Amino acid sequence: MEIKFSEKTDKIIKNLALEAKNFGVKIYFVGGLVRDVIMGIEPLDIDILVAGNAINFISSLNFVDIKSIHKDFGTIKTQIEGLEIDFASTRKEIYPHSGCLPQVTELGCPIEDDLIRRDFTINAIALEILGDGNYRLIDRFSGCSDIKNKTLKVLHKNSYIDDPTRILRGLDFKLRFNFNFSDIDKDLINEYLKNPSREGLSVDRVVLTLNKLFSSNLRAKEAFGEFVDKKYYRILFDYKDLSCEKIFDAIEKFKIEDYSKVLIKYILDELFDVPELKTRLEIYKHFRHYSDDEICVYYAKSADKRALLYFSKLKGIKLEIKGSDLLNLGYKQGREIGVMLDKVLEAKLAENSSITTYQDELNFVRENPIL
Ligand code: CTP
Repeated sequence: MEIKFSEKTDKIIKNLALEAKNFGVKIYFVGGLVRDVIMGIEPLDIDILVAGNAINFISSLNFVDIKSIHKDFGTIKTQIEGLEIDFASTRKEIYPHSGCLPQVTELGCPIEDDLIRRDFTINAIALEILGDGNYRLIDRFSGCSDIKNKTLKVLHKNSYIDDPTRILRGLDFKLRFNFNFSDIDKDLINEYLKNPSREGLSVDRVVLTLNKLFSSNLRAKEAFGEFVDKKYYRILFDYKDLSCEKIFDAIEKFKIEDYSKVLIKYILDELFDVPELKTRLEIYKHFRHYSDDEICVYYAKSADKRALLYFSKLKGIKLEIKGSDLLNLGYKQGREIGVMLDKVLEAKLAENSSITTYQDELNFVRENPIL
């Protein structure tokens, strides 16, 4: 197998392979990089797996700039001649509860033991970096043939129970690469969703995966549609009135550019209470405490037209005058100033108001004194 790196990257990798040999460890490419290379996609990030202790190996090299070390997971972020490379130690993991973060039980294990902890066969292919520009393919789970057949298969039947975020990762690969879950995987997912165990679930991990799933505006609608249709939300909760149409209608009306945050809010957030708001001033004063994202989600859940009125007509309106202007006009420090400013604001918020400029506001104060 051949991987086309730039001349500089190629030199760095060959050098690392030589150093690894001297240190007595084997090094590998694995996961997304290998999958992408096999699919003809140019790899963006370079991650190297060390069958041994990556931290000890990297710390022994004087040409490596160490950025950060995560001892528990045996990982180390580095920069080599300006190139960012992440190193990880091979590891065995267990999941004490369904959906929790895995616990590392062994660092520096043989590559085969590391591959078996992974999500899909397509991500469990390794390439041993031999250092002469050649690589040795390790494909114990027939990942290459699954890439060819565009099939998503987990490595063992408890995989989705161990880590239900794999359902969402699978959906991401499905939409990105036009892959499909195998029939067995579809059954395993449906089984899991019938009776999801959420006790030890790492919600943060689910949210991180959702963020990635929804991050591309191109695919967000489709991804969210499947998330609702296939009831993948059951990973997190039993039932919510989620609607792809309603949230995307709101996203359009509220001109939201970053979909993923809004979609996640829509999934996770409870509807906030809006009290009785009679006047435009009350609506303005209530909604200004919320971000556009929050109001968009509220609107998608409630269809409350006051939210839309605030966003489209009221939000942009601000007073030009300040309390000091009223002091100059003879108002005394205290409650009246606030009352007068509200009066001006109310007049400015009115439909077809003629008050726009600083001067208009001053004139209004003069013509409508409360002194
Ligand atoms: N992985 C896993 N289970 C997860 C997350 C990740 O088994 N819940 C493993 C997979 O082998 C994956 C590797 O860790 O290939 C790296 O994960 P990540 O960087 O999140 O994704 P990539 O597969 O590299 O894909 P991409 O970055 O292109 O989305």
